[in-house]
Amino acid sequence: MNLRSARSVSPENMRRGIMSTVWVWGSALALASALFVACGGSARRATAPPTTPTTPTTRVVEDADLSAASFGNINLMTPVGDHFVDNVRGHLAQALAVARSAKGGRYPVGTIIQLVPQEAMVKRAPGFSPATNDWEFFSFEVSATGTRILSRGGAQVLNRFGGSCASCHAAAGSQFDLVCGSDHGCAPLPIGADVITALQKSDPRPRH
Ligand code: HEC
Repeated sequence: MNLRSARSVSPENMRRGIMSTVWVWGSALALASALFVACGGSARRATAPPTTPTTPTTRVVEDADLSAASFGNINLMTPVGDHFVDNVRGHLAQALAVARSAKGGRYPVGTIIQLVPQEAMVKRAPGFSPATNDWEFFSFEVSATGTRILSRGGAQVLNRFGGSCASCHAAAGSQFDLVCGSDHGCAPLPIGADVITALQKSDPRPRH
């Protein structure tokens, strides 16, 4: 394959990483000060607004930690351009709007994108992997009996030819959320559209 050398984290990804860190710390500080007040701390600053003590609640963050069984025949997904899009958290309309927009955008949690049956990217919860915009990359072996995960994760995942998913996909313009498409700035794949179509059509997994 046409391997590109590892690229450093782009300023945009770095900014996102920093922003999510800031968010996490901001929430932790807000919770800590709420607890401080609830525990009778005497923060008597003239500027402090009156605070009603609240019981801290655990907020469930939406995520998509998928198992092999979550992946089916790609021909059951929605085609956009030459690839396929789905969303396992009920945000398909939002995912398709981003996929079809010439301006790009950030995909919602739960989005699955596939070009070929053997590889997928899945949008995880914020903070999962700032270096890959929280995309989890997957390499699969597919057969008539289903999907077997060969490897999964963030920036370290390689495809079966030893190519780094993240290195190639990082070349996409930052507004496209690491999705290459045919015109987002990535080096083209060394296989033609005819081979891609053939791989898509020959997905051996059940079509239901
Ligand atoms: C050699 C560079 C390269 C490597 C390595 C690579 N990709 Fe891609 N990938 C591309 C390019 C370029 C496209 C766009 C192809 C097209 O649409 O013509 C693409 C398309 C895709 C798509 C469809 C959405 C999109 O970005 O267009 C997915 C999903 C995908 N790759 C996942 C992966 C995963 C997962 C891995 C690792 C297991 C991986 N890729 C490894 C270059 C690469």
